[in-house]
Amino acid sequence: MWSSVMKNQQTLNLLPVLALASFFIRISGSMSLQPVLSGPDAAFLSSRVTFRCIRPDSSLPVTYELIRDGSALIAVVADLPGDQKALFHLKVTATSEGSYHCKATTPESTGVSNSIRLSVVTPASNTRVTSDPFPPAAYEGSRMALSCSVAKGSHLFYTWLFNRKEVTSLTSPPVLLTGNELVMGKVAPEHAGYYSCMAWSEVQGDRRFSSSQEVQMTVKAYLSKPRISYSIFKQGASRYGNVTCWSTRGSPPVNISLSVNDKEVGSVTGAQSLVAWFLVAMAPRQDTAVARCRVKTEVQELTSEPVTLEMVPVGGHVKVEVEYLYSADSKLVAAKLTCQVSRGTFPHISWLLNNSSLPSETHEDSLTHPVPYHGALADRRRTLFLAKLGPEESGYYVCRARDSYNDSGAWLESAAVLVGVTEVFLNTIEVLTIVFCCFLFLMLAVGAGCVYKMFDHKHAQAQVATTDSDAFPLSAHTSPSGGRQDDTLSKDFDFESEITV
Ligand SMILES: *[C@@H]1O[C@H](CO)[C@@H](O)[C@H](O)[C@H]1NC(C)=O
Ligand SMILES: *[C@@H]1O[C@H](CO)[C@@H](O)[C@H](O)[C@H]1NC(C)=O
Repeated sequence: MWSSVMKNQQTLNLLPVLALASFFIRISGSMSLQPVLSGPDAAFLSSRVTFRCIRPDSSLPVTYELIRDGSALIAVVADLPGDQKALFHLKVTATSEGSYHCKATTPESTGVSNSIRLSVVTPASNTRVTSDPFPPAAYEGSRMALSCSVAKGSHLFYTWLFNRKEVTSLTSPPVLLTGNELVMGKVAPEHAGYYSCMAWSEVQGDRRFSSSQEVQMTVKAYLSKPRISYSIFKQGASRYGNVTCWSTRGSPPVNISLSVNDKEVGSVTGAQSLVAWFLVAMAPRQDTAVARCRVKTEVQELTSEPVTLEMVPVGGHVKVEVEYLYSADSKLVAAKLTCQVSRGTFPHISWLLNNSSLPSETHEDSLTHPVPYHGALADRRRTLFLAKLGPEESGYYVCRARDSYNDSGAWLESAAVLVGVTEVFLNTIEVLTIVFCCFLFLMLAVGAGCVYKMFDHKHAQAQVATTDSDAFPLSAHTSPSGGRQDDTLSKDFDFESEITV
């Protein structure tokens, strides 16, 4: 019982050794017969490929078989002399993809080759750009994704063109390239333009392209808050308010409407424009009418500030206010005249100089005038700037006002204001200054003379016996260099003393 167990165990120990030995025998046997398969690992659909199979060092004729995916027999080349390789020419179809190996058989033995995996590459066709959202028009700041789509194709790479220049992840404006997509996370105005793509694949250095058509992408701007303004005009006996509504920014089409006292009175949709105007009948002293503009697109709706439509006729007083402007050295250089009208929503203002309208107001005058007039109007003619105050600009100024919507209405005039005449004015000041200076100098001289006289008097009393030259110590102190000047001075002092005596 014990010995039989021992014997069984010995048999079990021997088994792995035997298995290993038979394995080595098999390897060495097949090694000598193993054929080698060579051929491409990728090929375009419909192209032709060649696989080569050879069993080296065979003296006997060999039969070669090309087999796909372990079982499907593709082709046979029979009884080739031992040193010749078998060539298998294949036309690549959709089903050609798979793993290939070859089998070499001699009357003595059979060998199996390495295997090669063949990928079938389908060139791209019917490439086009699609977009999300579609059509490719996006508001600033929103997301836009363009895709490069093909009807057919495999193993594809994608190249994007923006305005015919290749897009990379480094080009500006920034975009994100992933797979067949070009993504703009936040659309900016610079993104607007023409996009196209190419889908391509490559097999052993051979590239096949398919290009899309160009697609135009537009970037839409959001509307800005609408503004409102109005003017009055007269037609026959009726008055109308011409209310203008506009946005400064935004992409059409935009619907613009006007409401008066919360009731819509007009609406237009502009395919091009961001401006619209509406006519509203007006009556003097009518009930308060509050107008508002509204602009609307598919994504936005904005309303303007309210504006009260009123038509107050020009009335009350008209007055000219003058403001003089001085240069750094206190010279009068310019003047600003303002016309103030106490009442009236739409005054038309006009200016008169010496009872005739300003040279700048009538074109002919300014052409024939020998000297140019330096006046400029601003703030709807309310302000008149006189850039220079020469004789041409000086005189009596009057401003007058009437309703702009009533050309036949009466003017309301201001009082005349004298402006300029500056040269005479300045001369007077200069003369006065000179006279005053002379007077001041005279007074100083007289004062100095008096002081000297007093001093001289005391001196003469102390030293009775002195020469003539000693009598002028002041001249010797102040001007030691020139004797002639001393004489002049001494004479002056003589003269002064004579006066004071
Ligand atoms: C209304 O005003 C606009 C300008 O704001 C002008 O273009 C238009 O001609 C005016 N309409 C009338 C009828 O006066
Ligand atoms: C306007 O009249 C004043 C006073 O008569 C005169 O000094 C001035 O030169 C005149 N101005 C013009 C531009 O004629």
